[in-house]
Amino acid sequence: MEVIAARDEFRKATSAVRAAGSRLGLVPTMGAFHEGHMSLLRAAASSCDVVAASIFVNPLQFSSASDLARYPANLERDLAMAQAVGVGLLFAPPVSEMYPGGEPETRVEPGALADRLEGASRPGHFAGVATVVTKLLSLCGGCRAFFGEKDFQQLAVVRQLVADLDLDAEIVSCPTVREPDGLACSSRNRRLGAGDRRAAAVLSKALGAGRAALATGARRSAEVEATMAAVVAAEPRARLDYAVVVDPVTFESPASLAGELRLLIAAHVGPVRLIDNLGVET
Ligand code: PAF
Repeated sequence: MEVIAARDEFRKATSAVRAAGSRLGLVPTMGAFHEGHMSLLRAAASSCDVVAASIFVNPLQFSSASDLARYPANLERDLAMAQAVGVGLLFAPPVSEMYPGGEPETRVEPGALADRLEGASRPGHFAGVATVVTKLLSLCGGCRAFFGEKDFQQLAVVRQLVADLDLDAEIVSCPTVREPDGLACSSRNRRLGAGDRRAAAVLSKALGAGRAALATGARRSAEVEATMAAVVAAEPRARLDYAVVVDPVTFESPASLAGELRLLIAAHVGPVRLIDNLGVET
C-alpha cells in the first residue's frame, strides 16, 4: 500500500491507475475505522481493480472547534486495517496540504436538500462536506466512489453535487453496518461511556418502532414520528433532536405514506450526538 500525503502525488498515482486500464475505487473517510468503513473498502475491492482510500478529518464540516478536537484519530491502526483489506493507495494529507491558504475562498454550496435536518442542526456542515468531496473527486479523477447509507442525507448531497457539477464519479452506496444490538457503526460510538453505549441502541429501536407503526397501518407522518419520539423519550440518557419520515429523494415530508420512505433520527446520548436511518416501503 502506497501512503500519500501530497495532492499532486495522489493525482499522479490515480492517473497512473487509469492509464494502466484499471478501474479505480475511492473510499473517502475521516479515519477512525470501524466495520462500516471496512464494508465500504471491501465493496470497493470487490468491484474495482485498485482501491484508493482517503483519511482526512475535514475542519470545514465541523460547526464547533470542540467537536473537531474530539473527533477520534488513530492513523497507525487505520493504515493496518486498510492494508489488510487490500487498499492500494492511501491518501492522508495534513490540513495544510488540503487547504494551503487556510480556509478556502471557494466553497461548494449544496442546495435546499442541505438546509433541512442535519443541515439545520449543523449549519455549514454540508457545504464543508460538499467542498472536500469535490476536491477529493477532482484530485482522484474518474472513479467509483463509495459512501455509506448511515449518512443518508450526506449521500443525497454527494449524488446531487456529482450530477450538478458533472464530476467524473459513479457514486455507490453501501448499507449501514450495525452492532448486534442494532446501533449503527460510527466513529462517534467510541466516545460513549458504558451506560450511554447501552442506551444508544434506542435510535435503532425507535426506527424499528416507526417501521412497525407503518406496517400496522399508521397513515399519518405525525403518528409515525410520535411513535419514534416516544421510544427515545423513554430512555433517560437520550435527548431527541429529530425523528421524521421523509421522501428519500426530496427529504420533504411525504404527501402520502405510500411507496418508498425513509425514517431519519438524530439524538444526543450523553455527550454524543448520533444519527441513524431506515428505508421502508409501504
Ligand atoms: O462521511 C465522512 O466520513 C465524511 O463526511 C467525508 C465524506 C469523508 C467527507 O469528509
